[in-house]
Amino acid sequence: MDQTLIKEASNYIQEKLAHKPTIGLILGSGLGVLGDEIENQTTIPYSDIPHFPESTVSGHKGQLVIGTLEGKQVIAMQGRFHFYEGYTMQQVTFPVRVMKDLGIESIIVTNAAGGINEGFEPGDLMVITDHINNMGTNPLIGPNNEELGARFPDMSKVYDPEYVQHASQCAKELGLTIRQGVYVGNTGPVYETPAEVRMLRTLGGDAVGMSTVPEVVVAGHAGIRVLGISCISNMAAGILDQPLTHHEVIETTEKVREDFLRFVKKIISTLPN
Ligand code: 6GU
Repeated sequence: MDQTLIKEASNYIQEKLAHKPTIGLILGSGLGVLGDEIENQTTIPYSDIPHFPESTVSGHKGQLVIGTLEGKQVIAMQGRFHFYEGYTMQQVTFPVRVMKDLGIESIIVTNAAGGINEGFEPGDLMVITDHINNMGTNPLIGPNNEELGARFPDMSKVYDPEYVQHASQCAKELGLTIRQGVYVGNTGPVYETPAEVRMLRTLGGDAVGMSTVPEVVVAGHAGIRVLGISCISNMAAGILDQPLTHHEVIETTEKVREDFLRFVKKIISTLPN
């Protein structure tokens, strides 16, 4: 990863800001509404930022929103880059490098995911305790820049256990029932077949989606503390006798919007650092 590209993007953003962000947010499909709650916001379309790719999926806005949320300086991605769109793993994770350069120490990564665990229901919120990289590649493949992180980064606690604990405490205080589980990152763009879903369940997956893993790997490499939250937007194939649609994903995320917003805001208000 070329540091001059990171610096050029970071400098462009920094010039527009009065405060240094400390918490990064990646807002998944249908979850971008959290960005609208940021106060004194500066918005920057991805297309304006040097070296940023441009977002293409519906339900994704494609801009950075920077400002104050629950008294914390945050930088949010409304819309992310997916591997299935044809971006390289380096492009998918470039914004994480830039946010690190801007000074974030923590990141909250969110997504819409299919439920694999048969105890889950659409509309559930799941705090990610670990992941399975089933994408067949890794954003850290290639020469390692030691200034950015270790050649062989430890991933044993990449989803910060203190953050998992903190999120669970916040849910309790709000009277929200939340799940915990293992997120499987698949490439997409197809949803899994029923046989694949059975395989992923056997392998220990609780939810499956098409994002998050690359960003979390890079955040871990960069020494950023990670909290991951999945919105279970639908059950994965073969569990219910109904086809999967992107429409359903958006519909469910709209239904849980209020809980999702309350949950993440509570987490941010008292996030340990
Ligand atoms: Cl069922 N699978 C994948 N890979 N991604 C999803 C999903 C399912 N539901 C929402 N996103």
